[in-house]
Amino acid sequence: MSSMDRYSFPPGFVIGSATAAYQVEGAAASDGRTPSIWDTFSHEPGRILNGDTGDVACDHYGRLEADLDLMSRLGLDAYRFSISWSRLLPNAGATVNPAGRDFYERLVDGLLARGIRPIATLYHWDLPQELEDAGGWTSRDTASRFADYAARATRILGDRVHTWTTLNEPWCSAYLGYGSGAHAPGRTDGAAALAAVHHLNLAHGLAVPEIRREARNAPDTSITLNFHVMRGEDAEAGRRIDALANRAFTSPILRGRYDDDLLADTASVTDWAFVQDGDLAAIAQPIDVLGVNYYSTVAVRMWDGQGAPSRHDGHKDVGGSAWPGSDRVEFLPQEGPFTEMGWNIAPDGLEELLVSLHEQFPEQPLMITENGAAFRDEVVRGPEGPRVHDEERVDYLRRHFAAASRAIERGVDLRGYLVWSLLDNFEWGYGYSKRFGIVRVEEGTLERIPKDSALWVADVIRARGAAL
Ligand code: NOJ
Repeated sequence: MSSMDRYSFPPGFVIGSATAAYQVEGAAASDGRTPSIWDTFSHEPGRILNGDTGDVACDHYGRLEADLDLMSRLGLDAYRFSISWSRLLPNAGATVNPAGRDFYERLVDGLLARGIRPIATLYHWDLPQELEDAGGWTSRDTASRFADYAARATRILGDRVHTWTTLNEPWCSAYLGYGSGAHAPGRTDGAAALAAVHHLNLAHGLAVPEIRREARNAPDTSITLNFHVMRGEDAEAGRRIDALANRAFTSPILRGRYDDDLLADTASVTDWAFVQDGDLAAIAQPIDVLGVNYYSTVAVRMWDGQGAPSRHDGHKDVGGSAWPGSDRVEFLPQEGPFTEMGWNIAPDGLEELLVSLHEQFPEQPLMITENGAAFRDEVVRGPEGPRVHDEERVDYLRRHFAAASRAIERGVDLRGYLVWSLLDNFEWGYGYSKRFGIVRVEEGTLERIPKDSALWVADVIRARGAAL
């Protein structure tokens, strides 16, 4: 095999896997945890495929030790998890829940004891319900409450957690939660979605100094964004979606401004009066790592007014008021192959995204905090035990790892790669119908079965590279 057939990662490059609290923990009403917006939403009829909820999920809460041992057997360098705000601070109150504290301490200590680096996300979409009742992310006060929660969580775990991520994919929280209504809390109001964008950005900005103050081990601070990588010839459509989906976050966070074209495109929806003096300076805190989630590309074009606009992009982000001010942008079918989500497989999009972020923000280290794929898997039970031969997922990962490696060769400061997800889990509106795990979780018994993709990831970690 020639060196052209292999790729490798630099020493210190972190390879691991990721989950999120509501998607894996279960124990939703146990030990003092109070409801989040996802508990409420998932129990509303018609919201989630098959009426699934996160009540039990993978019972990661009850099976923590076994899951930690599993991660250790796979040799993960890092594990990215999220903290359930309403488990640590029930009712979003001031009092720490001892059982919640104990769970996250056991998780972090268990990772460290196994040589796995803890990467904690403070907010992976599960806003305490009482805060939603008081306006949720449309209310400015939620940003201050988040900063307070960040301080408390860091006070507890800040001597042991290596990386703190404030928010995961605020695009989803704002536009799917308050615009299209596909996610909790299920509101469909474009102006509310844009207020949520700003208050999420503000929450991030207010939390970063709290984390730096409370942590005692100089941790890395970060935020994880999901980027829309555009395909298609229509520059105007591409610009509009870039403004709403990408630059609505990167410009305030990394440049301290909202771009003029974003304000102009959305002027019919809101006057942005919720942005107060000093907010942009507060938001533009230096961060140590920018987290990048990438799955596929989107193809866009301006609707010419003929027939019904195309909403076919395989994504869950269409319909309702998901694109305030730019709802004349069409989403077009793309070339396959596709994953089980209907998302097109485009590893070149990952390379392009990483290089583009590096060009836009040359000083900013990057980390892939999510990449992975849902496929329909099958368990084969033979003499050597249960196996899942998920060649499609292995192939997806191999091609995306190779794309990341090419980006590094092109000068991108990429620090790591976390595969979504460690476990098959609650895939939001799709419930348990989509399996993203490198470890299979059997329905009912919740038995864990490492898939071939998990063994492949373990090999890559050992070899610091892989064959193409
Ligand atoms: C992004 C989200 O952060 C995660 O929660 C979700 O399961 C994956 N993408 C797959 O859709």
